[in-house]
Amino acid sequence: MAVLPYIVGNWKMNGTRAMLAEARAIDRAASRFPGVEVALAPPFTLIGAMREAVNDIGVGGQDCHVKPSGAYTGDVSAPLLVDTGADFCIVGHSERRAMAHETDALVRAKAEAAQAAGLGVILCVGETEAERDSGHAEKVVTDQLAGSLPQAGDAAAKLSVAYEPVWAIGTGRVPSVDDVGAMHRAIRAKLVATYGEAGAAVRVLYGGSVNAGNAAELLAADEVGGALVGGASLTAESFTAIIGAAAALAEHG
Ligand code: PGA
Repeated sequence: MAVLPYIVGNWKMNGTRAMLAEARAIDRAASRFPGVEVALAPPFTLIGAMREAVNDIGVGGQDCHVKPSGAYTGDVSAPLLVDTGADFCIVGHSERRAMAHETDALVRAKAEAAQAAGLGVILCVGETEAERDSGHAEKVVTDQLAGSLPQAGDAAAKLSVAYEPVWAIGTGRVPSVDDVGAMHRAIRAKLVATYGEAGAAVRVLYGGSVNAGNAAELLAADEVGGALVGGASLTAESFTAIIGAAAALAEHG
């Protein structure tokens, strides 16, 4: 069975109950494009309400703790995410790697904790601008993968990888389609080296300033199986255009 393109919105620290109207509109739009798998990752506080509000899209968390429960004030575990209605979790987003000092080993532990709780995982990797300029972007990203890919059990089965160059996030700048393709080929090679045949089916998403205007071009790049979208996922209008671009490519590409 062909793997559907996966278009995921990361709402970051945005999303009051008033924004459930956007989630409902995104859900209605997604139901018109059955050839695309669509999901939203709202803040923890909105996961339960969003799960109730939508039918056809996935709802997930943006992070989880490595432990299932305990004295970790302010943290949220993978089983708690499941309990509130999440079906996946983003781990290792560059904002957490940078601001919460998350290491590859911690990201791997989070990915394994999420999978152990039954959640799908979107594992984020990406180089900084200085690392890109130094010519080492592929090594940086494959080293991040080596340190943070989950290894426990059937790890490749419920895994997606999101390639998000740090310098492209929220900046309006995107890599060339050739650079995206080259990085995605390197990621694919690492996945196959790590998981064997199962690594060939892991979806590799591109993320960083994806919008309605550039989605078709980025999604058509080599080995790109979807997109992780921040700012342009906050309104149904812009996110639906990206879902539509993925659907058109899946149909004709
Ligand atoms: P952006 O964010 O689309 O706003 O650049 C992407 C992300 O951080 O996942």
